[in-house]
Amino acid sequence: MTATKGLEGIVAAKSSISSIIDGVLTYQGINIDELAEQATFEEVAYLLWHGKLPTQSELDGLIAQFGEYAAVPADVIAGLRLYPKGSNSMAALRTVVSSLALFDGEANDMSGESNYRKAVKLQAQLPTVVAAYARIRDGKEPIAPKKGVGIAHNFLYMLTGEEPAQVAIEAMDKALVLHADHELNASTFAARVTVATLSDIYSGVTSAIGALKGPLHGGANEAVMVMLDEIGSLENVEPFIQNKLNNKEKVMGFGHRVYKNGDPRAKHLMQMSRQLGELNGDMTLYEMSIKIEDLVTGQKGLKPNVDFYSASCYTMLGIPRDLFTPIFAISRVSGWTAHILEQYQDNRLIRPRADYVGPVDQHYVPIAKRG
Ligand code: ACO
Repeated sequence: MTATKGLEGIVAAKSSISSIIDGVLTYQGINIDELAEQATFEEVAYLLWHGKLPTQSELDGLIAQFGEYAAVPADVIAGLRLYPKGSNSMAALRTVVSSLALFDGEANDMSGESNYRKAVKLQAQLPTVVAAYARIRDGKEPIAPKKGVGIAHNFLYMLTGEEPAQVAIEAMDKALVLHADHELNASTFAARVTVATLSDIYSGVTSAIGALKGPLHGGANEAVMVMLDEIGSLENVEPFIQNKLNNKEKVMGFGHRVYKNGDPRAKHLMQMSRQLGELNGDMTLYEMSIKIEDLVTGQKGLKPNVDFYSASCYTMLGIPRDLFTPIFAISRVSGWTAHILEQYQDNRLIRPRADYVGPVDQHYVPIAKRG
């Protein structure tokens, strides 16, 4: 038995949710480019869960269900107030999602109907808890969700307490569409491994959030913004990036395990970054990002991934950088739960083997005799 480091190239599950074939990403066979241009996030969530786009009445039904489930129990909000000041926002999200299970009477009901309901509930509640967390840590009161509006609209409203501009709603909605699912990425795999033990959906999503938090995965969007802030100006881009490349350090937001000719989601976020810069009358972040891309792609051949331009987009939407990865989770919970439901439908325990490289023929030595 020999191990493949990082499971590169290993096909670990059959799935009919999303595919990456020859660098083209589809959700249920629909090219992500079409969805990014034309679909709403609610349509995409329905598509991932049901395998088909919703009719108008099915879509209205889902939006109504989101409205019904979006409020979270008061005790969960009270719990958020107890988290230490300065807590990592993804650690807070991981904790609060785990705690949601304790307040859901059907958390351990493994029927298909109940698991679908919990998927919808998790999708509805994640934006509420991220917005509530952000407001509480800023010393503000959380804002109750609205009914009858989309997830992007509701999230921006709960975050700021103001009616968001249409352009902000559309940008956020497109970002959510682009992040919704991505085949067997690390967090989705973590979710599937967890529920393949027949553990509950909350455990699966909690595992996924833990995996998404890391800077090699979803945490990269925040790390990109940390880098842009550190660089600070267009003139500083070249010396900063050159120094990183010379020292063989990774530049966050570049490279991908699966895409070697570019991440198809990145171009949409790049366009959005340019448009938001034009709208805000400040192209600095966009121009810095373009210059970083020129340098990294030019010298290393590495292309930007989904996390690179999302950093400047979210900043130009006025979102603090520690919420970038939680926003990724707000979107990806649709994909995670679709994969969890798929795993339950044809489950087998996921239990690979390890290539043992430790010592052999060792013997127990009593503690008094150990040197
Ligand atoms: N900057 C500089 N060099 C890089 C980068 C980068 N961003 N990414 C890869 N490389 C180099 C590595 O140093 C390595 O070089 P070497 O062979 O000389 O040692 C080579 O390219 C292969 O890199 P690996 O890390 O082995 O590639 P892997 O497929 O395991 O990792 C990953 C993919 C994790 C995305 C990697 O490209 C990376 O760390 N990127 C930065 C973090 C990031 O942006 N993550 C978000 C990914 S998208 C997502 O998860 C939502």
